[in-house]
Amino acid sequence: MKPAAAACSLLVAAMLGCGARPSTGMAEKPSRLPPVRPAASAALSNHAAGRIDRLLAAMTLEEKLGQLSQGRTGSLPPTGPETRKPFDDLLGEVRAGRIGSILSPHGAAHINSIQRIAVNESRLGIPILIANDIIHGYRTIFPVPLGEAATWRPAVVEQDAHIAAAESRAEGTHWTFAPMVDVCRDPRWGRIVETSGEDPFLGAVMTAAKVRGFQGRSLAAPDAVLACAKHFAAYGFAEGGRDYGTVDLSIETLHEVPLRPFLAAARTGVGSIMTAFNEVNGVPASGNRYILRDVLRRDWGWNGLVVSDWESTLEMIPHGFAADEKDAARLSLLAGLDVEMSSTTYRDHAAALLAEGSLQMPLIDQAVRRVLEAKEKLGLFDHPYTDEALAGRVVLSPESRAHAREAARRSFVLLKNGNANSPAPLPIHHEVRIALIGPLADNPRAALGTWAGFGRDEDVVTIKTSLEQEPGVIVHAAQGSNAQSPLSGGIEAVEAAIADSDIVIAVVGETDAMNGEGLSRADITVPPAQMEVLAAARRAADARHIPLVVLLMCGRPLALPWIAEHADAVMVIWHPGIECGPAIADVVFGRAAPSGRLPVSFPRDVNQVPVFYNHKSSGRPFKPHERYVNRYLDQSNEPLFPFGFGLGYSTFTYSAPHISHAATSTDGSVTVTMQVHNTGAAGGTVAQLYFQDPIATRTRPVRQLVAFEPLDLNADETRTVSWTIAADQFAFYSANPGGVDEGWVVEPREIRLFAGGDSTTKASTSLRLTGLRRTGIAPPSP
Ligand code: NOJ
Repeated sequence: MKPAAAACSLLVAAMLGCGARPSTGMAEKPSRLPPVRPAASAALSNHAAGRIDRLLAAMTLEEKLGQLSQGRTGSLPPTGPETRKPFDDLLGEVRAGRIGSILSPHGAAHINSIQRIAVNESRLGIPILIANDIIHGYRTIFPVPLGEAATWRPAVVEQDAHIAAAESRAEGTHWTFAPMVDVCRDPRWGRIVETSGEDPFLGAVMTAAKVRGFQGRSLAAPDAVLACAKHFAAYGFAEGGRDYGTVDLSIETLHEVPLRPFLAAARTGVGSIMTAFNEVNGVPASGNRYILRDVLRRDWGWNGLVVSDWESTLEMIPHGFAADEKDAARLSLLAGLDVEMSSTTYRDHAAALLAEGSLQMPLIDQAVRRVLEAKEKLGLFDHPYTDEALAGRVVLSPESRAHAREAARRSFVLLKNGNANSPAPLPIHHEVRIALIGPLADNPRAALGTWAGFGRDEDVVTIKTSLEQEPGVIVHAAQGSNAQSPLSGGIEAVEAAIADSDIVIAVVGETDAMNGEGLSRADITVPPAQMEVLAAARRAADARHIPLVVLLMCGRPLALPWIAEHADAVMVIWHPGIECGPAIADVVFGRAAPSGRLPVSFPRDVNQVPVFYNHKSSGRPFKPHERYVNRYLDQSNEPLFPFGFGLGYSTFTYSAPHISHAATSTDGSVTVTMQVHNTGAAGGTVAQLYFQDPIATRTRPVRQLVAFEPLDLNADETRTVSWTIAADQFAFYSANPGGVDEGWVVEPREIRLFAGGDSTTKASTSLRLTGLRRTGIAPPSP
């Protein structure tokens, strides 16, 4: 750190340490954790650091606050209410140096024209930072994040993010508001589609992959963008699964579950983090000093840029935390929130707060410094403009499309394929007449899914188009219904299509407008209009003794007991992106076998929610036919399809785990191996390793994923998988209300390890951890 910056940090720390501090509602305790330094936070050159110092010395307060303000423009609709429209004269604001970043502009030429104003016409010539929500692709759209997670293949997901970064940067975007790293156990929440599902470890692995993919080796490269891990923190734990709802959870769970992917992001060197809309245990995230200062900055040692979500500083007023806009600005700045998205409380009130002594200038300077550092790391001071010829070479290239097809294929999760009474209908062979029914078989927008960047309908190849192109295949298509309402004559059309076919393929589920932000659902079934189509299809298929295959397009786990029972095959295809049709054709016709695994449990019905695999035991665990135990009178405790589950066109057998030593010390490690055998045709699976810590000083979940390995095996091939697991991986968080947290703890205990193909596997072995109980250890990676 430069001396000036160090002095500034000390000053801020001193100011925060001794000044009157507003209550955060959470005990603010000294940490016993060793700080976790981000791996990839490249130090700035002396030249760059000197430039920042000089700029800070030259900036007026108005210019400083400008760097902390983010406006919006462009073709995309606003992603939230616009309390005011302060940025009507956006270019004037840029010229006056009253704005530091802009959300949503599109296209290199347009963005260069804005940049020219910032560089040539503003007083200090500070380049503008251009942000966009590039979540699962810019123009080449990949599966929605829940589908990406279903691949269980970080290499595939990293490449998705890399392509998205290359396309975005070529079109002028420097900063993406991704990855979304929230963990979610409630499928009612519409934004579960943007997550990696219910597991913090899988989420952490996917997070690290995406950060690497977006940021590359150097942010200054023409194919890298600044990533933003969001939404800090615990946004996925909203009460009732209603978006923007209250979050109230233990400090232990906070650290072990929602914070874990953020830690992975910090360790991977993510450049920015976005605060969440929700409160965390009584304190809105955008003013929450515990998570922002104590955890993120102090304990994790992370030094990147924190941005609010859309008007989330302002929303602290209706939360009942900030008295007014001025108070909101004060609380967010003191908490360590650097840049305000869309709202202007900093611009409007910081001067008064400084004048009255509620804030000190070093705090503002530190936030401005982080913005300038991000611009330096992106190379914008030296290369502010985008090569306008680049996009033509990069965007939607054949290689990117090929990867999108691969990513989509890898994301499909086969839940059922025949049973004892009916043969497996998939894969199907050519020379076949297909009745292709359902409202989603030829719906490009639904295939793209929510937050589809700058994806276009015309780029999408639908399932109908692809199946029609298969040689020897005749397609009789009938939509049957709209996604949520019946279609006049729809059922008759379905029956007519089936009357002349050898197999029925129904593409049903959710459109892109049925999940995503602000789209929570209380009823997580396939809508009734589509179920009527399926029931009619089942009857017509039975009359002809032909199979019914259901392809389920969705962005959340759906409750589908009828479908699971009555369809001959069921495959979850999520929202697969632009290569939807070709990927489906590959899998349906057996050119590729499905290899995805569920990143989230699929409940039997919504009344079971939350139902997730890594729950606690209770003092009265479930036992069949007993009354006074943890159970429902009228429903199973178990999901319909568990976390980690998925079928292929082959069957795989998994050995019990084998450990290199029966015991290891609490600061040691052990090598765990298992064999996976493919009993049939070539295909993919995922070897999964779980653990249980049966007796501990804090009760532990019945299972926790600790390692996994995606595999592609030839027919009859056996592969040995080997993992080195540090004892730290078995750690848990121990809070100590009123005292000092123990932090992450690992205890000398017996650990049970389970290996297999999903979270219900029984094959296990025991490992003894010996030696000292260790506290305050570095949290488990990734
Ligand atoms: C609100 C969303 O919560 C966030 O994820 C997104 O990045 C911003 N709007 C900007 O569009």
